[in-house]
Amino acid sequence: MKPIRTLSPWFTRRSMLGAALAVPAVALAQSLDAAKELDTPFVTTPQNVVDAMLELAQVRAGDRLLDLGSGDGRIVITAAKRFGVPGLGVEIDPRLVERARQGALREGVADKVRFEIQDLFETDLTQATVITLYLLPDVNEMLKPRLMKLKPGTRVVSHDWGMRDWPAEREIVVEAPGKTVGLAKSSKLTLWIVK
Ligand SMILES: C[S@@+](CC[C@H](N)C(=O)[O-])C[C@H]1O[C@@H](n2cnc3c(N)ncnc32)[C@H](O)[C@@H]1O
Repeated sequence: MKPIRTLSPWFTRRSMLGAALAVPAVALAQSLDAAKELDTPFVTTPQNVVDAMLELAQVRAGDRLLDLGSGDGRIVITAAKRFGVPGLGVEIDPRLVERARQGALREGVADKVRFEIQDLFETDLTQATVITLYLLPDVNEMLKPRLMKLKPGTRVVSHDWGMRDWPAEREIVVEAPGKTVGLAKSSKLTLWIVK
């Protein structure tokens, strides 16, 4: 069942996104327009940042990766291509799920990965050894209680946003020249390991 959203309604998220990311007005309007029903709008993680997220999590054989809000599937597809690990991407937008499935076919990893139309708040998190997030701060906060209860050793990596009161294992900043939001062409990546 979906948790009750006590934090930002969409208008708050809009202001927060605008202020935090300083998105150029047109790009912001477009992405928010497409994202009215979403908990986080669709913005891609640049490929070099995807690579850095997977390296920070030390993805390796034997892992099972889960990307919550998988967009065009690039994190799951890259993990399968680079490290041979099976992955699941859950995404609320069916068009993006279709795009991710096509991408997996194109990249030759369709037998390793799955993309499902699913609300990330209803996703079973317990089978993953690595979970990746590029969401919003309040969405991270709502997921945190479930993430913290996962099997010890489960790694969680978040692009840009942290989680209050959960001390990170590592935090790094990587250059992100391909970033389509914000003025800073860099991304903050945070790793937690469940204790
Ligand atoms: C910022 S994008 C990140 C996409 C991809 N993970 C990446 O890093 O390139 C967030 C994604 O979450 C999806 N999303 C938003 N709310 C969702 C929900 N409740 N359940 C599943 N996906 C959701 C959006 O459609 C969007 O594709």
